[in-house]
Amino acid sequence: MKIKPTKHTIKHKPTAKRNSANPMWGGQFASGPAESMAKINASIAFDKKLYAQDIKGSIAHAGMLAIVGIISSAEADAIIRGLKKIQQEIELGAFVFKESLEDIHMNIEARLAELIGDTAGKLHTARSRNDQVALDFRLYVRDAAQSVEVLLSTLQAALIKRAEEYAVSVMPGFTHLQSAQPVTLGHHLMAYVEMFGRDRGRVQDLLARMNECPLGAVALAGTSFPIDRKLTARTLGFAAPMANSLDAVSDRDFAIEFLSAASVSAIHMSRFSEELVLWSSAPFGFIKLSDLFSSGSSIMPQKRNPDAAELVRGKTGRIIGALNALLVTMKGLPLAYNKDMQEDKEPVFDAALQWQLCLSAMTGMVQDFTANTKRMQSMAGEGYSTATDLADWLVHKCKMPFRQAHHITAKIVKVASDKKCTLYALPLADMQKIERRITKDIYAVLTPEQSVASRTSFGGTAPVRVKEAIKIAKEKYL
Ligand code: ARG
Repeated sequence: MKIKPTKHTIKHKPTAKRNSANPMWGGQFASGPAESMAKINASIAFDKKLYAQDIKGSIAHAGMLAIVGIISSAEADAIIRGLKKIQQEIELGAFVFKESLEDIHMNIEARLAELIGDTAGKLHTARSRNDQVALDFRLYVRDAAQSVEVLLSTLQAALIKRAEEYAVSVMPGFTHLQSAQPVTLGHHLMAYVEMFGRDRGRVQDLLARMNECPLGAVALAGTSFPIDRKLTARTLGFAAPMANSLDAVSDRDFAIEFLSAASVSAIHMSRFSEELVLWSSAPFGFIKLSDLFSSGSSIMPQKRNPDAAELVRGKTGRIIGALNALLVTMKGLPLAYNKDMQEDKEPVFDAALQWQLCLSAMTGMVQDFTANTKRMQSMAGEGYSTATDLADWLVHKCKMPFRQAHHITAKIVKVASDKKCTLYALPLADMQKIERRITKDIYAVLTPEQSVASRTSFGGTAPVRVKEAIKIAKEKYL
C-alpha cells in the first residue's frame, strides 16, 4: 500500500502572499514562512503559559530603561500601562494569540504596538528574546518549585499526623517482600517523611542556585546600552544578575535540576503508592482507601481499585521521561542560544503539573486510609519474624557468637515450621532440645510487640524512638 505524503511534506509555498513576512524581522524577508516552517517554529500554543512571567519581566525592563535614561519615564509609563492591559485581556480570555507571531514574546509585543503605537518598539531596546525567554522560563520554574515545596511540606504534615496515630501499631517489616522483622506503621510512615524532607531540600537547593537573573544578557554578548542589571535582578526578586551573558541565555540547568528533583520525588511517591496498592489488596488487607480515592470495576462488582496510587506510580514514568527529554535536548548544543531549546518548555510544564497533582493525591491518600491494625498485628508474627530476636537473646544471655546463634535459631525455626506454630507458641522443651541454655525468659522477646519495643537504637522502630522521631520531625519540618 502506498502512503500518501501529507500536505506539509509536499507544499512549501509561503503561508500567505508576498510581503507577509513577520514585521519583527524587518526588510530582509520578503515572504512569510512555508506552512510547515510556521508550524514547526511556533511555540505560542504552549508558551502562552508564560504570559505573566513575560509581562513581569518586561515591566521590570521598561522601568529600568527609564531609570537609566534609555527611554523617558512617560514612555515607560505608556509601555507598562499597555502591558498591564494586555495581562487583563489575557486573563479575561479576550486576547487573540496568533501562531504567525510565533511565541508569547512577539504576541505581546505586537499587541502592545496596537495599543500604544510606536513607543512599544522601545521596549525591546537592550533586550533579545534570548534573555527574555531565559528569564520567563526561570521565573516559571521558580514559581513551580516554590509551590512544590509547600505541597511537600503538606504531605509531610499529613504523614506525621498518621505516624503519631500508628506509632505503636505493629506490622510486618519486609526485605525482598518477605517477612523480615516487625516494625510499626508509624515508623514506616516516618521513613517517607525523611524522603520527602530530602526532596524538599533538593527543591530548596535548586531555588538557591537558580537565584540569579539572566535579563540583560541580551542576545548573547550583552549590550552597549548602559543598562542596570542589578536593578532588574532585584526588581524580579533575584539575588544578583547572572555573571556571564553567554551562560545566561544558553543554560537550562535550572530546569534540569527541577526535573531531576521531580523525578526523585516522584520515585519516592511511586514506591509508597506501590505499597498502598499492595496493602489495600485482599491478600494483604492492611489498609482500606475510602471511596474518595478508589474506583470500582465495570464488570467485577466486588472490586475496589486503588487508582490514585496506581496513577501516581504511572505518572512517575512520565516525569522521568521529561527529565530525559530535556537532558537529551541539551546534550551537544553549542553556546549560546539554539532553537532546540524551545523544546525545553513542554516537558517542564507537564512534569510540574503532574508533580503537583501527585503530591496532592498522595497527601489525600495519606489522610484517607484506615489501617486494619488487627490484621497487621497478626501478620507481623507470621514468617518467624522474631527469629533475629531469638538469636540476639542467645548472644546476650549465653554470650554466644552471633553466627552460632544464627545457626541454632535456624534449627529452632525449622522445628516451629514443622509443628506449624509461631516462635512464641513453641514449647520451651522443643527449644531446649536444640540449645539447653534457653530458659523461659526467651518468651520475653518473641512476640512482635516485644521485638519492636526492643529496637531502641537511634533510628530504630521502637515506639519510644518513633515518638521521639516524630517530635524532631515536627520541629524540623512543620
Ligand atoms: N520561542 C523561543 C523559545 O522558546 C524564544 C526565543 C527565540 N529566540 C530566537 N533567537 N529565535 O526558545
